Amino acid sequence: MGAGVLGVGKFSPEKVLTNFDLEKMVDTSDEWIRTRTGIEERRIADDDTDTSDMAYYASVNAMKDAGVQAEDLDLILVATVTPDYPFPSVACLIQEKLGAWNAAAMDLSAACAGCMYGMITAKQFIESDTYKNILVVGVEKLSKITNWEDRNTAVLFGDGAGAVVMGPVTDGRGVLSFELGSDGSGAKELFQDEPGIYMNGREVFKFAVRQMGESAVNVVEKAGLTKGDIDHLIPHQANIRIMEASRQRLELPEDRMVKTVQKYGNTSSSTIPIALAEAYEDGRINDDDIVVLVGFGGGLTWGAVTLKWGQ
Ligand code: UT7
Repeated sequence: MGAGVLGVGKFSPEKVLTNFDLEKMVDTSDEWIRTRTGIEERRIADDDTDTSDMAYYASVNAMKDAGVQAEDLDLILVATVTPDYPFPSVACLIQEKLGAWNAAAMDLSAACAGCMYGMITAKQFIESDTYKNILVVGVEKLSKITNWEDRNTAVLFGDGAGAVVMGPVTDGRGVLSFELGSDGSGAKELFQDEPGIYMNGREVFKFAVRQMGESAVNVVEKAGLTKGDIDHLIPHQANIRIMEASRQRLELPEDRMVKTVQKYGNTSSSTIPIALAEAYEDGRINDDDIVVLVGFGGGLTWGAVTLKWGQ
């Protein structure tokens, strides 16, 4: 019995913040943002919508897609760096909203690679036959920690949530391989402190290009596959230039990479499940397709997963 994805869902706030809007807030231009990052617009949650609200909406969609009821959830794992409160966890807040009374619940912190860490934690519980239905959510309200006066970071981030329900699947399907890693010596390359997010953009860029390519190649090899077997590459949506470098390293044609960065910007732990949900809802992902997910983030952290789609 393998561990795989039973259902996916996403949520994006309605409010759109375009590059042109940002031109009025900081010294930047649509042209600079588009050519350096690929971002055209991002979504921003209103004051009444906190991280747990977005996590809840995405979870409801994923559970509906999976056909799993709240009482059937055994574990809720939420990857976020922007929880409503330091404690209790967002996972506990959505347990209550969902009415998932049989579930254990906790948050985990691995920044933009958080959802990869969550999915691989879920896989261990499922394959050891400890738990059956696990909700994994990547969610961020980055707008509440963004310094809107710092053009180096303000143009990059957005808000949103993506969720997957994981559970047992037929042998040969589900997670075929994974890689997780971290390097705390790079902690100060990307971190949050007053008054916002601090990032050494160039260093993070170099790390991301190297690590995403390497991790993606590693998980494909570990799964006993070759680059040509990949049907969909879903990289962390931080910057189109980093994403393109991964695609080229895997020698994939353009249409095999899922791209949402232009619409949502970098929503940290939620970019991968949002992109996965969007590709699935668009009918791009079919049973037995090979899907490679790969992320990197503050920590530094990274993670990659090869999935054979379907139950
Ligand atoms: O989820 C993980 C999070 N982080 C990332 O993935 C970020 C990784 N890094 C990057 O994506 C890129 O490094 C950035 C998009 C952040 C920056 O792109 P870059 O091509 O590395 O630009 P740069 O930092 O080398 O800056 C080039 C110039 C600088 O001006 P000078 O020194 O050449 O005169 C910056 O001051 O662009 C300037 N600049 C801007 N100009 C207009 C920096 N931010 C902006 C801006 N608008 N928003």
